[in-house]
Amino acid sequence: ANKKLWGGRFQAPTSKEVDQFGASIYFDQLMADEDITCSLAHLHMLAKTHIIDQADADQIDAGLRDIQADLKKGNLHFSYENEDIHMNIESILTDRIGPVAGKLHTARSRNDQVAVDFHLYVKRRLPKVIGLLKGLMETLVTMAEQNVETIMPGYTHLQHAQPISYGHYLMAYYQMFKRDCERFEFNQHHTDMSPLGAAALAGTTFPIDREMTAKEIGFGQVYANSLDAVSDRDFALEFLSNASIMMMHLSRFCEEISMWASYEFNYIEISDAYTTGSSIMPQKKNPDMAELIRGKIGRVYGDLIGLLSTMKSLPLAYNKDLQEDKEGVFDVFNTIIPSIKIFTHMLQGISVKKQNMYDATTNDYSNATELADYLAAKGMPFRQAHGIVGKMVYDCIVKQINLQDLSIEELKQYSTLIDSDVYEDLKPETAVKRRNSLGGTGFAQVQKQIQAAKAELAE
Ligand code: ARG
Repeated sequence: ANKKLWGGRFQAPTSKEVDQFGASIYFDQLMADEDITCSLAHLHMLAKTHIIDQADADQIDAGLRDIQADLKKGNLHFSYENEDIHMNIESILTDRIGPVAGKLHTARSRNDQVAVDFHLYVKRRLPKVIGLLKGLMETLVTMAEQNVETIMPGYTHLQHAQPISYGHYLMAYYQMFKRDCERFEFNQHHTDMSPLGAAALAGTTFPIDREMTAKEIGFGQVYANSLDAVSDRDFALEFLSNASIMMMHLSRFCEEISMWASYEFNYIEISDAYTTGSSIMPQKKNPDMAELIRGKIGRVYGDLIGLLSTMKSLPLAYNKDLQEDKEGVFDVFNTIIPSIKIFTHMLQGISVKKQNMYDATTNDYSNATELADYLAAKGMPFRQAHGIVGKMVYDCIVKQINLQDLSIEELKQYSTLIDSDVYEDLKPETAVKRRNSLGGTGFAQVQKQIQAAKAELAE
């Protein structure tokens, strides 16, 4: 005989290694509270629709609440023989209240049960991620506000390109995290949908009320198709994909923070509280947190690719393969929540070495575009101006001076269009201030962006 909840059809017990290998209780016990919550909703609906007697329902209700209380206290014991969280809870319930427990699974399958638990798990946690991202965005706005007029080199190809406002740089990341938030919000729209009542795959002959269970659990919608309801893991894939994109943004930021804290750049200093030392080199102050967050992207991408690969070519509807959907999602929540939190705290403790940033824009040729624009504004075709300034840069490199070091007489040898007002244009602060096109680094534009961001965050 086979003593499993589903053992009736079997003559012999399953092998121990099948039990061990097939079990998901090792990790899906993290959804215990979701499982009980969804079972309670299902139970109340069964009673309301007279599918089971109210007296039986009351007994089951009390039993489930008892289990929920023990779960909070950490008093439940799960076993791999009961395979997963669903059958573990049902088996504990049966131990406590007897065979009436068996009525709970009327008009339900583990296929819609696991799906609804998993949706609820993600639905409950997405707001945490969105909230942390909003906190990070607020920090960025605060820092940007203090640094609208902080001048730094802007890079392309990691070469000095044009000077920019550090506030503008910070707001660039604000915009990325804002889109990340929007993606997670859209993700919530797809997660906020109840598969419960799809039963095994085809729905049920019992007169269930899916809207009722959805409402009690707190879902905004129900799945329209029972096959889709038990097969869909898009909401989890979207989460993993959104998390990957968000971590990609964080990793770029972390990379820049690590570079800028280096001796070579020396633009910023990370606080002692968010750096670490070396066990051998006494002078070291390492940006460990930035590196670790940058490194954690590996597992997040891995979890995304893992589930995408598991889902590929899976026939409808439920397949045991789908049991592989949960660990990656749990892992990603456990990875991104502390990553955003610690990153935000690290950012708040960064001090900016404004003079070093500024100096880096005066010992280079990042004002070359200003000079070419100056000539173009005086009527010279831009291409010709570009050529002349290129030659000037070359001559200055040979002489080991910068463009602004050339005397007015020397400048005029390149073009008679140049007057002494050019020196004002060659200053980095002028270059930044004047880039006032929409979304540009000009101080007024950065202020505008900050005001818009504040309004968005206040909503
Ligand atoms: N532990 C299973 C999972 O995580 C629950 C669903 C099992 N359903 C089934 N028909 N075997 O996917």
